[in-house]
Amino acid sequence: MALRGFEEDAFLGALDTISQWALSYMESLQSRDVSSARAPGDILAQLPDAPPMKGMGKGVDAEGWNAVVRDLETIIEPGLVHWQSPRFFAYFPCSASMPGVMGEFVASVLNVNGMLWSTSPSATELEMRMMDWCAQMFGLPDQFRFDDKDSIGGGCIQGTASEAALAALVAARRRQVGRGRDRSTMTVYTSTQAHSSIIKAAMVAGLADDSEDRSRVRLIPVDEHLAMDAKALEQAIAQDIEAGLTPCLVSTTQGTTSTGAFDPLVEIGQDLARLPDAHRPWLHVDAAWAGAAAACPEHRYVLDGIERADSLCINPHKWLLTNFDCDLFWVRDRQALTDSMSITPAYLRNQQSDSGQVIDYRDWHVPLGRRMRAIKLWFVIRHFGVEGLRAHIRSHIELAKVFEAFVTDEPRLVLEVERSLGLVCFSVMGDDAKTKALIERINGRRRVMISHTVVPIAGQDGMIPDRWVARVAVGSTGVGRKEIDELVSEVRVVLDEVVQ
Ligand SMILES: Cc1ncc(COP(=O)(O)O)c(C=O)c1O
Repeated sequence: MALRGFEEDAFLGALDTISQWALSYMESLQSRDVSSARAPGDILAQLPDAPPMKGMGKGVDAEGWNAVVRDLETIIEPGLVHWQSPRFFAYFPCSASMPGVMGEFVASVLNVNGMLWSTSPSATELEMRMMDWCAQMFGLPDQFRFDDKDSIGGGCIQGTASEAALAALVAARRRQVGRGRDRSTMTVYTSTQAHSSIIKAAMVAGLADDSEDRSRVRLIPVDEHLAMDAKALEQAIAQDIEAGLTPCLVSTTQGTTSTGAFDPLVEIGQDLARLPDAHRPWLHVDAAWAGAAAACPEHRYVLDGIERADSLCINPHKWLLTNFDCDLFWVRDRQALTDSMSITPAYLRNQQSDSGQVIDYRDWHVPLGRRMRAIKLWFVIRHFGVEGLRAHIRSHIELAKVFEAFVTDEPRLVLEVERSLGLVCFSVMGDDAKTKALIERINGRRRVMISHTVVPIAGQDGMIPDRWVARVAVGSTGVGRKEIDELVSEVRVVLDEVVQ
């Protein structure tokens, strides 16, 4: 059989070589350093500066693929930060899985473009079903589901939470324009602790000239828990209405990137509900990381108040064993979203779209063409089941408690904010320099990797506006008690150096 680029035997042989490599790479993660020691330019220097004129060919060329694997092992792997290492505690880990890898593989083999329902009905309908499955799993209200007969909402898979924020913002603006408001008067509200993707969305949508432009972006102050101050939000909105501006989008964060704080969504939703339609902004909920915890009934509180939201995003590529990239984005009114993105040139017109009976996902985001990301989610959910995914989240939270207990018991460390799910934020007793040194030295040893943030923290003598804090996010696939013990021993060794 002639395959694209291969004879059948050669393909199976090459696949075997790559599968063997995958197994040995995954196994090596148990023992290898987490981060790379390469200097800028090291990788470039090892790669030929021109492409090969002659390829490996379609036939059996075992040596060719062995050579590719050798290059992977000797050039590429040493230049990676091993995000799949069980000792990776930085940022928010991307917990992938082999069922997710298989989903990516199958999606690549199919390589369909699900831009329209008609360009691959299965691509669209599998995605719709996955969005409904996930809505069920997270306990979302029916208004976000396709399969509820009264719902006008639904969801799609975006690449990232940043894309979801942009989609929410343009939908929000379109809705306000539809209500007769002038598009040049739109304002956006989020907290000082929100992810930078909200400001970026404002920049891309033309509401901010650069990241510092606050003429139409309001960064609402936070309380002592680093959650948005709902009263300050209410006042900012009232002032803008008074000034003739149009509150367009409020974006809350349920589980902030820095410390895992939760904005008071219930109160914010109630406050916004009191505004007349013409002034009521779109309420977007960014639960990119913490939303995954809502899969466990005991953690559903992370989405308390979601019934008043216009849109919501959760990233299974962060904490739900689904390979990058996969952001779930739901809207309460799908037409509000598609009105902002729909444009139909003659070459895309088709009978099914014209009938209005199908979902055309190209209208839900900026790109036209789209990958079949739903397959990997389907594989992951079928493989682990909801119970398996819950067990994954719960085990990480239990492990984070172990690390939290270590921090609390160690007199040279300070737990700066309450542990949030799997995230523990701490500093070294004393000044920021010690915390910075601790993080640098831990990461410099490369056995584990953690990250940092800078946040306002209440100190003994009042507010410290820019406190350096170390972040340990338990979320890697395969992390267990052994890795937490290793993390603790790394922190201890370095603490002895930093605090004499
Ligand atoms: C709360 C929150 N929102 C948004 C993002 C951005 O995610 P993405 O990379 O999917 O755009 C992050 C990333 O860590 C995050 O923590």
